[in-house]
Amino acid sequence: MWDLLAGPVFLRIISVVALLCVARLLLWKKSPSKPSLRSVAILVLGDIGRSPRMMYHAESFAKLHFETFLIGYKGSRPVPSLLSLPYIRFLYLSQPPLALRKFPFIISAPIKIAQQITSILRVLLWRIPHPPEFILVQNPPSIPTLALVWLVGTLRGSKVIIDWHNLGYSILALNLGSNHIFVKLARIFEAKFGQSAHAHLFVTRAMHDFLVKEWDLQGLKAILHDRPPAHFHPANASEIHELFLRISPFLPTTFLPVYDPPMSTPLTQVSSHALPRLRPDRPAVLVSSTSWTEDEDFSILLDGLSEYEHRARASCGALPRVLVLVTGKGPLRDAYMRKAQALQGGDHWQWVRVISMWLEPKDYPVLLGSADLGISLHSSSSALDLPMKIVDMFGCGVPVCALDFACLSELVIDGKNGVIFQNAAGLADQLENLLKGFPNAARLESLRASFRRTVEPRNVSNSEDEGWVWNSWDDNWTRVVRPVVLPNVHVAG
Ligand SMILES: *[C@@H]1O[C@H](CO)[C@@H](O)[C@H](O)[C@H]1NC(C)=O
Ligand SMILES: *[C@@H]1O[C@H](CO)[C@@H](O)[C@H](O)[C@H]1NC(C)=O
Ligand SMILES: *[C@@H]1O[C@H](CO)[C@@H](O)[C@H](O)[C@H]1NC(C)=O
Repeated sequence: MWDLLAGPVFLRIISVVALLCVARLLLWKKSPSKPSLRSVAILVLGDIGRSPRMMYHAESFAKLHFETFLIGYKGSRPVPSLLSLPYIRFLYLSQPPLALRKFPFIISAPIKIAQQITSILRVLLWRIPHPPEFILVQNPPSIPTLALVWLVGTLRGSKVIIDWHNLGYSILALNLGSNHIFVKLARIFEAKFGQSAHAHLFVTRAMHDFLVKEWDLQGLKAILHDRPPAHFHPANASEIHELFLRISPFLPTTFLPVYDPPMSTPLTQVSSHALPRLRPDRPAVLVSSTSWTEDEDFSILLDGLSEYEHRARASCGALPRVLVLVTGKGPLRDAYMRKAQALQGGDHWQWVRVISMWLEPKDYPVLLGSADLGISLHSSSSALDLPMKIVDMFGCGVPVCALDFACLSELVIDGKNGVIFQNAAGLADQLENLLKGFPNAARLESLRASFRRTVEPRNVSNSEDEGWVWNSWDDNWTRVVRPVVLPNVHVAG
């Protein structure tokens, strides 16, 4: 197993170093040509359509009228707003020939890497006619991209911006162990070619602090947290009604209030000639999304719910029924769902139901928006990145009840946009606290209200007094990245 994973890294390092030496020798004398202003090449060694953050960067640059080249592999469809902007050009990297798969690994790997390097250099050096003012690169993958953008930056005079999403070597270490020689080499490579750039962007303050301390990064530095795509917004009762008409056949029959489609669903009802409304006898909906991996310990959720069941039984109606919807696919799903079934099956539980489901991507934001509360069991392996699912929930105006980990406080502010728990008993306490009196649950409502503020037209000077505000990508990009790329142009107002 590790041979397959480690081999390419080792070979990549060797070939990149060799290539750089040759390039340096050949081009030593050539002075950098002058880059054209207000242009940017954005490079991601992956499927462009699956790299949301790089697509938002592209959109933000294009809105400033930068000539924007977005470089990566063709695959999923990019976000529609990107396709309609006149300043954006997609430059696709060529895929390695399929025939390569027939050859033994030891032959195919170096060919694949050489093909990657030439394909990236061909785009950066030739297909973009004038050197771009900036090259923005996503890290990881670090190998070979960090070295290539450094090389092109040196040759063509473009300013390199590294967007640090995570650390390539630490991801490799998850598979190989941190003492493996390839992990050490990858780390040296990443530190060497990542150390100096025109600017560094970080997805968390924790990553900023770690890298500045460990690698002494040189260049401008800015923190830009992730934000959800624009179609993640609070759902209204009509959208919830429409979604639950479709998914109610997959919901448990005995547990939910009686409903009669298409006039009602477990959560909504339509009275004559009116728009759907949320029904007062609905259960509280909790939603969690997961890829069902070792990273997330769902037994905490099951134990917490088990405790909630006991408390709800004893509460004489002060606590509501809870419907827990878990979305996502992954290896541990069946094991955990069997455990859930053993706990709740045969009417063991009367106040809680857990079901897992898989939704079309277009339904996912509406499902999040239908929830009263999100649950996150994410615990970060590097403690330097934040779970995108909480970002998505916030985008839909849904507060979260989250398992604590090192840098969670950069995202979840206890008592403002969510609450934090440490273990199953803590989770049960939070649920009891938040849901008491549902659907008129005061604490839950006050959390939800902090999102409503940001949906309304905002008065920035006022909102800062109120503490936490959910800024959009555009807000912060304008504040954080724009001064880096247009240092002499000041925002009007
Ligand atoms: C936006 O900036 C503010 C203040 O600098 C910060 O508190 C917030 O976390 C940032 N949000 C994003 C999306 O980076
Ligand atoms: C609910 O949201 C949908 C989609 O955003 C919108 O088309 C519809 O007009 C909204 N309905 C109400 C009642 O606001
Ligand atoms: C925004 O807040 C400022 C200062 O509190 C106030 O003078 C201004 O009128 C407000 N603007 C709006 C549109 O509410």
